[in-house]
Amino acid sequence: MQVRVLGAAAGGGFPQWNAASAACRRARNGDPAAKPATQASIAVSADGRRWVLVNAAPDLRQQIEATPPLHPQAALRSSPIAAIVLTNADVDAVAGLLHLREGTPFALYAHERVLRVLDGNPIFDVVNRAIVPRRQIEPGGRAVLADAAGASLDLALEAFLAPGKLPLYLEGQPGRALDTAALDGDTLGLELDAGAGRLVYLANCARLDDAMLERVAGADLLFLDGTLWRDDEMIVQGVGAKTGRRMGHISMSGPEGAIARLRDVPVGRRVFIHVNNTNPALLADSPERAELERAGWEVAFDGMELRL
Ligand code: MLT
Ligand code: MN
Repeated sequence: MQVRVLGAAAGGGFPQWNAASAACRRARNGDPAAKPATQASIAVSADGRRWVLVNAAPDLRQQIEATPPLHPQAALRSSPIAAIVLTNADVDAVAGLLHLREGTPFALYAHERVLRVLDGNPIFDVVNRAIVPRRQIEPGGRAVLADAAGASLDLALEAFLAPGKLPLYLEGQPGRALDTAALDGDTLGLELDAGAGRLVYLANCARLDDAMLERVAGADLLFLDGTLWRDDEMIVQGVGAKTGRRMGHISMSGPEGAIARLRDVPVGRRVFIHVNNTNPALLADSPERAELERAGWEVAFDGMELRL
């Protein structure tokens, strides 16, 4: 399996449009230790020709142009993007679908609750359902992904329910109670394999409970929620009132954080993704980056290439 990181940052990207933090200013000034990053997404392929995207970030158009294997080649109107799997309906996971409205087929996979959000928003009908089939993911079931015409992409998917919450823009809607660690399909983790190793993508996760650790154990390649370094980071930096927990995200550090919880869990390669612009570990020269690297972790970057 070939894997490309299309975007490594959390919602808002790095630098974020309205952020004047020292880190964002360093990114804007071209500091090599503060590399800009687009919003989280990866592309995977069994054959290097037909690609499956995990999520459709708002930056998708830019991500495609930065990734030669995703450029159209076969016909005047065509794309190597054969399918997209959505892990949730947050803006940073679905807004990129609007870039793909020019009448080229691909298959769209999502949990029923996410499909319901798309179905309820007519703007997504610009992605023509007649040529872009919407397919429901059954968590716990294993399925071989297929393109719009039903041809196998030689990639197996098993999705699992991850602790997470409904999208921010649905909070407070009647009948939609806020539970920041619900297990109801608003947030999925993904296991993908092409016959030689297992990739686990868990970029939105509110809690690393034992069930999540079991899912992650034995993965050859793990992409994990790296939103925050510490739970109160946005409050301490004076840029927000919410903790990571309130936003449905674990932190890297601390006793309940990813580094500690996964210390004894066997994983081949462990990579943080969906890293927020407030997270000091985004900066290649930070003590936090050095600490996570000492613990065997990496931080994804746009254009990162991996193989399984
Ligand atoms: C998140 O990951 O918490 C969301 O992307 C937040 C948002 O929608 O802005
Ligand atoms: Mn997000």
